[in-house]
Amino acid sequence: MAIERTLSIIKPDATKRNLTGKINAKFEEAGLRIVAQKRIHLTKAQVGTFYAVHKERPFYDELCEFMASEPVVVQVLEGESAITRNREVMGATNPSDAAEGTIRAEFAESVGENSVHGSDAPDTAAEEIAYFFAGLELVG
Ligand code: CMP
Repeated sequence: MAIERTLSIIKPDATKRNLTGKINAKFEEAGLRIVAQKRIHLTKAQVGTFYAVHKERPFYDELCEFMASEPVVVQVLEGESAITRNREVMGATNPSDAAEGTIRAEFAESVGENSVHGSDAPDTAAEEIAYFFAGLELVG
C-alpha cells in the first residue's frame, strides 16, 4: 500500500450547517491527515471548470449553481491508499445508498447536496489538487 494524496471538498450544504469540524473528525478517525485546507467561495465559472467532466449531464447546471451558492472548504488528505480510503469514509454518492457511519449517511441531504467530494483516481487527484493548491501549500 502506498501513501497517496486526494482532493476533498466540504460542500455548501455542510459548510452552511457548520459541519466542517465534524466531517474533518471523520477523516482523521479514518487515518487521513489534512495536509492542506482553505475555505473559499467559488464562482459558478470556477465550479464549471472543476466539474467539466460532467458538462453533458442533466444535473451540471444545478451542480454548478449549488457549489457556488455558499463557501466550500477545499482540502488535501494524505494517507495509506487515501483515494480509496476517503471514498469509503464519504460513502455512496446518493446518501440513501451510503453505508452506516459514513459522512454521506450521517450528513448529506440529497444526491446533489451530498456534503463532500473526493477524487476518484490518482490522475484526477493530481489534477484536482493542482486546481486549488500550489505545491508549497501542501504541508505533510
Ligand atoms: P461528486 O462526487 O462531487 O461528483 C459529481 C457530483 O454531481 C456528485 O458528487 C453529486 O453531488 C452530483 N450529482 C450526481 N448525480 C446527481 C443528480 N442526479 N442530481 C444532482 N446532482 C448529482
